[in-house]
Amino acid sequence: MPRKALITGITGQDGSYLAEHLLALGYEVHGLIRRVALEEPERRLSRIQHLAGRIQLHAASLESYPSIFHVIKRVDFDELYHLAAQSFVAESFADGFSTMNSNINGTHYVLAALRELRPACRFYFAGSSEMFGTVQASPQNESTPFHPRSPYGISKVAGFHLSTNYREAHGMFCCNGILFNHTGPRRGFEFVTRKITRGAARIKLGLDRELRLGNLDARRDWGHAADYVRAMHLMLQQPEPADFVIATGISHSVRQFCQLAFGELDLDYREFVKIDPQFYRPAEVDLLVGDASKAHRLLGWQPTCTFAELAREMVAADLETLGKTPILAGTG
Ligand code: GDD
Repeated sequence: MPRKALITGITGQDGSYLAEHLLALGYEVHGLIRRVALEEPERRLSRIQHLAGRIQLHAASLESYPSIFHVIKRVDFDELYHLAAQSFVAESFADGFSTMNSNINGTHYVLAALRELRPACRFYFAGSSEMFGTVQASPQNESTPFHPRSPYGISKVAGFHLSTNYREAHGMFCCNGILFNHTGPRRGFEFVTRKITRGAARIKLGLDRELRLGNLDARRDWGHAADYVRAMHLMLQQPEPADFVIATGISHSVRQFCQLAFGELDLDYREFVKIDPQFYRPAEVDLLVGDASKAHRLLGWQPTCTFAELAREMVAADLETLGKTPILAGTG
């Protein structure tokens, strides 16, 4: 019998990579998606289009407990990866109420339904390094205190504590991943890495003349999303549930990412990047850098993609999707 998994947020960057990874491991993969995604498959299901026929999709909304209950009752699965969330930090300042509602209540609904219907199911919660916010120590590990700086960060701290409480109070197998920023060619356009690679590619092709960004000095620990979903799966295979930081251990600035991405195209970012205050956040997280030694030790997990490789892959993918042949620096 194949193992079975249900992924919430399967249409997103991480959901699509995780679905591929689990299929490759022989899993039967189910995804929970919003009904509106079924109405607009070309746009909303684009990241999982190539998996059509190999995964089963079920409509439900994180805002509706009955809809989640119904899917969890009807579909049989052993592991649940709860990735669905409002995940854009800047948007959480614009609409903190929706972010809190989806990210806190949505998580609570999933946990409550699991407890009722499948208490033995293994549960993964997508925690975030944004929970560390104004960092109390560097690098950050599983013992570093949280000090979130945005409604998004607050919602993830609440989700983290909810998941931990179901583990402690009800004996459920709940694991929290504390994932640092992870990206790749499937990243949404609003996140800074994709905005930069897409913007640089458009400038190279003559489609744009400038790229407007906010704080170039923020530092993040960026890894490849395909590497990070492997860690999610490994967490649920451990003998005991636990929490794990997943990071590369190396931080870079947004400016360095610009330098690399534009450099791939033989462009100097300083000629094209313009600072626009609208992209500054009311409260910024200046520096994140993770210590993933627990994951190295207990999960045997290691990242495989470097910062430079990440930028190169993303620029090449953006050039390709913009319909042109990639002509990268050093390749003629
Ligand atoms: N989005 C964006 N757009 N960010 C900008 C811009 C811009 O024009 N200019 C500068 N930045 C800076 C932000 O201020 C932030 O410091 C940094 O770039 C990264 O922003 P994002 O790419 O939006 O990601 P994030 O680090 O805030 O959050 C991501 O990583 C978290 C894990 O640490 C998201 O994926 C979260 O969902 C995730 O939890």
